[in-house]
Amino acid sequence: MPGDNAKKALIDSMNGLLADYFTLYLKTKNYHWHVAGPQFRELHLLFDEQAAELFALTDVIAERVRKNGGDTLTGIGAIAGKASIKDDDRSKVDAMEMVKALRDDNVALVKAIRAVKEAASEAGDNATEGMADDWTDQAEQRVWFLTQTLA
Ligand SMILES: [Fe+2]
Repeated sequence: MPGDNAKKALIDSMNGLLADYFTLYLKTKNYHWHVAGPQFRELHLLFDEQAAELFALTDVIAERVRKNGGDTLTGIGAIAGKASIKDDDRSKVDAMEMVKALRDDNVALVKAIRAVKEAASEAGDNATEGMADDWTDQAEQRVWFLTQTLA
């Protein structure tokens, strides 16, 4: 039987992942709101689609934490304390710099999802382990779109 330590590690890594989703959601929205240049419309719309995907998973991840018996994030301060993805508080950022930053952040997210999947496996949480594959596919799709936009 998986021990309490494995469960605790899973809850911790899921709360870290949740903080990353919220952070990347808001960063993507920041870019959606402030992007400028010849590709404005395309990037404005792409960033909005990606932000919606990120936001849609926040509730799912938080509730997986609760179903595992843990407390989840409670507010902006808790998000800031747990996130490993960095905010970008600037409003004037070159459009391709935005695309590159989001690409790198989504690559980091794929790694964080993998860590959650491993922790879920250790803790015997099959549901999270299975769902993580869909989260990875979504994140890799975002990486693909952003990478192709840079090429
Ligand atoms: Fe909008």
